[in-house]
Amino acid sequence: MNNVKEKKARHNQHQTDDNIKKSLLRFLTCGSVDDGKSTLIGNLLYNSKKLCQDQIETLQKDSKKFGTTNTEIDYALLMDGLASEREQGITIDVAYRYFETPRRKFIVADTPGHEQYTRNMVTGASTADLAVILVDARKGVLTQTKRHMFLVSLLQIPHVVVAINKMDLIDYSESVYNNIVDEIQTFCKKLDIQNISFIPVSALAGENIVSTANSKTPWYKGVALLQFLEEVYVKSDRNLVDFRYPVQTVIRPNLDFRGFAGRIESGTISPGEPIVALPSGKESKVKAIVTYDGELEEACSSQSVVLTLEDEIDISRGDMIVRKNNLPKSSNEIDATICWMSETPLTFSSNKFILKHTTRLVNAFVEKINYKVDINTLHRENTTTLKLNDISRVQIHTAKPLFYDNYKENRSTGSFILIDPMTNNTVAAGMIRGATQTVEGLTGTKAEIKSENIVREHFDITPELREKHNGHKGAVLWFTGYSGSGKSTIAKAVSKRLFEMGCQQTILDGDNVRHGLCSDLGFSAEDRAENIRRVGEVAKLFYENGMITLCSFISPYAIDRDRVRKIMPSDRFIEVYVKCDINVCTRRDPKGLYKKALAGEIKGFTGIDAPYEEPVNPDIVVETDLQDISTIVDNIIFKLEQSNIIKA
Ligand code: ADX
Repeated sequence: MNNVKEKKARHNQHQTDDNIKKSLLRFLTCGSVDDGKSTLIGNLLYNSKKLCQDQIETLQKDSKKFGTTNTEIDYALLMDGLASEREQGITIDVAYRYFETPRRKFIVADTPGHEQYTRNMVTGASTADLAVILVDARKGVLTQTKRHMFLVSLLQIPHVVVAINKMDLIDYSESVYNNIVDEIQTFCKKLDIQNISFIPVSALAGENIVSTANSKTPWYKGVALLQFLEEVYVKSDRNLVDFRYPVQTVIRPNLDFRGFAGRIESGTISPGEPIVALPSGKESKVKAIVTYDGELEEACSSQSVVLTLEDEIDISRGDMIVRKNNLPKSSNEIDATICWMSETPLTFSSNKFILKHTTRLVNAFVEKINYKVDINTLHRENTTTLKLNDISRVQIHTAKPLFYDNYKENRSTGSFILIDPMTNNTVAAGMIRGATQTVEGLTGTKAEIKSENIVREHFDITPELREKHNGHKGAVLWFTGYSGSGKSTIAKAVSKRLFEMGCQQTILDGDNVRHGLCSDLGFSAEDRAENIRRVGEVAKLFYENGMITLCSFISPYAIDRDRVRKIMPSDRFIEVYVKCDINVCTRRDPKGLYKKALAGEIKGFTGIDAPYEEPVNPDIVVETDLQDISTIVDNIIFKLEQSNIIKA
């Protein structure tokens, strides 16, 4: 991607935002009325001074009449008033409220906290930049809070603000606040939340909502909630790299003009740039970017425009225009996480749907349900059916290939909905994880075939004794990344450092293990799963013997790595993502294997024609194409110290 262009596009967008309209923040509130959600939103709406005067007067009157609070205004009444409007609208599950301050415009999706929370949150979150999660300071972290955190992580909402509310009822106690923050942060380690902030508030007393001036929490050094919402920078969350332009309509007002109308879902484009139309694969160049206000020199993500091309190529609604050198993925076997949104359960006798992906409609069916997630415990459960609000990993077959990106990289081209062709109702919202691999559910791995007549042997020299003797704890350091990313090099350097420090450590390395223990295994998804399982079990045995075991394996499938994580105590498994651009690995090519793979001599080579699933939530990321080895080793050693595995 041309950096100058990217900057220019950002600049243009900035100009548009600042000059023509203020920037917009879409956010979502999660919490129940009991947590003070209505009061909080009411407070924000009221303070933004954009309510009609008559609404304010009614509110003041009602507050006197029905108010349950001693303050002048009961903000919750305001929300309840708005809620009753909603009730007339039959089944609008998500209410969007609009307010504005001198600095920004806001759209808040208010998702009712009743039993349909999941479906509502998924609906409200689809375009949200930020989520405000409310926690009642008196009750602390509830199952519900964890559920909200999980959904926010699943939906990849870029920013999360935890508003710890009702601080007035706990005397603005710093320690209670800190305990809640700690608990949430610990829980979040299991999730994939990119940016989380905490604010102590009292929605009722207005503490830290609009301002922190004269706050009763002098120990809190951050900004007030409204200020945070005004200042949080969301444009960098947009994907400005991958140009994706799903065609909505072909415009042909006369024989001289033929344009393609649509919304740029991500990336930027300029006239003269080479493009490809999918699925036809036909190539051309952008001739002009047409808008009502004239032609543009450049357009970027979220702008709706009309593109004209230099050549007459056949393009229709549902096709996608992309840059020639930056193609989306394509498959008709999709691995996805879906949220079931229908009262009618998914069963195998009724699993034919229309899948809507960007502007494209294709016939699809759910081939397999791998598992559903109990969102209260994050445990996976086997199931053959999906009910309302269930979150599940499924394999979907589509009649025609989809051109998609993984949801993590692109929320627009990585999501879809399933529509019941009989009723035309939306029955599920889905997030694409990739193309279907052999994804195991909870059963079916070789590990499960275990005789009941096996009893565990216990040893006199217990793991605790060994750790005491060694002066450090046992652990598994799991290095994952492409071949040639530098996993073994780093593992060796860390091992050397640990050795010099007097620690008990050992290395398990992909190539070595495959000479013996795993010499019967190849590189199919199934064989790799078994490879990782065996190695994981060996590493665990070493751990039980007090060792720090450094495992260096491509381990391209998240599910395989997660299985190893699961058999280990959570604080003794450290996933190190050895990140390195695939092009750099291809250039390094230490074993000459990329060359062979590119020549088609090796099939199923990771990064060339087999996938690598990036760790969603690694404990540490090291970037071998950017950082030098000694910094990386220092960082890993620091992580071991922080995790109390070795002493600082
Ligand atoms: S894993 O996928 O099962 O974790 P592992 O780390 O054990 O792989 O082995 C990877 C090593 O095997 C690579 O470093 C490379 O030297 C070699 N290799 C041979 N064929 C392949 C292939 N098809 N894909 C990846 N690595 C391969």
